[in-house]
Amino acid sequence: MRKNIVAGNWKMNKNFQEGLDLVNELKEKVVNPNCEVIVCTPFIHLACAADELEGSVIAVGAEDCSTHESGAYTGEVSAAMIKSTGAKYCIIGHSERRTYFKESHEMLKEKVLMALKNDLRPIFCVGEVKEQREQGIQNSVVEAQIKESLFNLTAEEFAKVVVAYEPVWAIGTGLTATPDQAEEIHAHIRSLIAAKYGKEMAENTTILYGGSCKPSNAKELFAKPDIDGGLIGGAALKADDFCGIINAF
Ligand code: PGA
Repeated sequence: MRKNIVAGNWKMNKNFQEGLDLVNELKEKVVNPNCEVIVCTPFIHLACAADELEGSVIAVGAEDCSTHESGAYTGEVSAAMIKSTGAKYCIIGHSERRTYFKESHEMLKEKVLMALKNDLRPIFCVGEVKEQREQGIQNSVVEAQIKESLFNLTAEEFAKVVVAYEPVWAIGTGLTATPDQAEEIHAHIRSLIAAKYGKEMAENTTILYGGSCKPSNAKELFAKPDIDGGLIGGAALKADDFCGIINAF
């Protein structure tokens, strides 16, 4: 059976000390969660967060990784480097990376392979922008994102992937997809996985919702049959809000 997950995405927030403080607060407050809990942090926090959280119920992840293995790529951080910090997950294909850093399907496919090769579980993000939803093409947008960057994987590789559906118009805007809107796409994603890898794989794949998820709406979203948790931005920056979402399970 698939796992329920609540994952935080700090984005470009928290200096070193602030990150350490938040990690320590979470370590104290997250006890016996009814789901897996992950914090995805900027690179500078990874080693320290993984060290502090070792033996706790909280796992650590990165927010991105390089398409390259190693070498002369100033400013890049490789999947192997991330893995060496103790991190276990890596967000790939967040809409902010796709939009601001022009990450293509092909690049994301390479990043997913890099993560898997280094034993990091990708949290692969998909989602449509507002205009695409207005045109009613959200299903085909998400379908292309998944097919182009994930469906080259073997079944063994795909089994390690977590998918996150994040409608871009809901990210950081306070506009949450309704539970029905989110469920519709989650079910669609699961059907795509079933068609490619079989029903069992589809049933075992965790599909998260992201986009203005908060303690007040998490319960309703997580109650839907195909929503297996959340990828949390703004509300992951405060321990009490993040715990409120975890406690929705
Ligand atoms: P948000 O961000 O919760 O602040 O909307 C979610 C995300 O971008 O992962």
